[in-house]
Amino acid sequence: MSSPLSLRESALQALIISDPDEKIAAVQKISFDTLLHTQVITPPSQTIPGRPLRPELVPPQKVTYRSVHSEQGKAALIHAIAHIEFNAINLALDIIWRFADLPDDFYRDWLRVAKEEAYHFSLVRDHLRNLGYEYGDFTAHNGLWEICEKTANDLMARLALVPRTLEARGLDVSPVIQNKLASINDHEGVKILDIILRDEVGHVELGNKWYLYMCQQTGKDPIATYANMVHTYHVAKPKGPLNVKARKQAGFTDEELAWLSSD
Ligand SMILES: [Fe+2]
Ligand SMILES: [Fe+2]
Repeated sequence: MSSPLSLRESALQALIISDPDEKIAAVQKISFDTLLHTQVITPPSQTIPGRPLRPELVPPQKVTYRSVHSEQGKAALIHAIAHIEFNAINLALDIIWRFADLPDDFYRDWLRVAKEEAYHFSLVRDHLRNLGYEYGDFTAHNGLWEICEKTANDLMARLALVPRTLEARGLDVSPVIQNKLASINDHEGVKILDIILRDEVGHVELGNKWYLYMCQQTGKDPIATYANMVHTYHVAKPKGPLNVKARKQAGFTDEELAWLSSD
């Protein structure tokens, strides 16, 4: 009999799965009590992440965004959020299997994130279905996964750029999207984004927690190192207003918020 999969191996198995429903089920099935081992895991022979054939991936400038004042435009916006959440499941699973030799809590924290992202994806996809569309009916871009690939060998950069940049950006734009949805009386959409925003504060907080842990371990200055990462990986500083309240809840300091808002 083969031995049961460890938590990190189970995360990799879920990452490989293409079908969204099977992926969600696999993520929700992983128990926090699953045996943990922290040694290096051999990369899989399959392509990761597993994802359905649709949506068709196109360059970001080719993804069509329409006004939310048309039914199709509203569905396209909800579809874009569903795609972000689908990617977010994969991003959380990837950090679990890929990075070895970290404290047990690291892996359990990101498992919690993967489960919450799976829940977010289900909520948003159900909303899309109520509008008469399915995940895959619109084009999407692969920007989130590309950052994941670029930081595959650098945990500091992964933490700096995925939870502390991309997910933190989600905190800033959620109220803007909620206003758009409220303007067309999509109260269900607003409620779903309330749940997502609440959970995402927690994800960014974990990003901060483990980023600071890595800075302590390596004796690096958090703010200078972040500035370095942004430069090295050509990541744009956030444009537009920051959600200062949510970012402070997630652990950003006044000093860093000032740096992020400076030109
Ligand atoms: Fe999410
Ligand atoms: Fe998240």
